[in-house]
Amino acid sequence: MAVRSILKMGDARLLRVAEPVLALDTRELQALIADMFDTMEAANGAGLAAPQIGENLQVVIFGFSHNLRYPDAPPLPRTVLINPVIEAVGSDEEEGWEGCLSVPGLRGMVPRWSRILYRGVDPSGHAIEREADGFHARVVQHEVDHLIGRLYPTRMRDLTRLGFTSVLFPELDPEADD
Ligand code: NI
Repeated sequence: MAVRSILKMGDARLLRVAEPVLALDTRELQALIADMFDTMEAANGAGLAAPQIGENLQVVIFGFSHNLRYPDAPPLPRTVLINPVIEAVGSDEEEGWEGCLSVPGLRGMVPRWSRILYRGVDPSGHAIEREADGFHARVVQHEVDHLIGRLYPTRMRDLTRLGFTSVLFPELDPEADD
């Protein structure tokens, strides 16, 4: 178990399409997931995708009871989602502020589907199928975008709404956003 270093925007490894996980319930997969949780928690993240630590696999994690980087967000169930697929439920979109551990110090206003259905499997191969809205839906869309090489600034429609967290949200704990 280890805190791994997080790749930052500009690193070409963040732009790859991730490979599906073919072997579930393996020691290697469990070790990767343990490292991902250690890394996410050390950085106060809401979620993390395997490509962010240089592993080009379709694995994302998310979840917290309270998050320093998003203090107003409701709790999210602690989840490991492998080989995920997302569909929009309806066509409503909503805009909201996002940050990313690979884009440290910044936040941007990003449009996302308001409601989604996501599917995938857990590390043992059991099916996961959930409907989500609000911040939960936003986090899943953000993390799954990492698996197709997309970082949130590439989803923004108005780059005047990209800024430094310390300027946009001066009340936030600065420890929570480096
Ligand atoms: Ni991210």
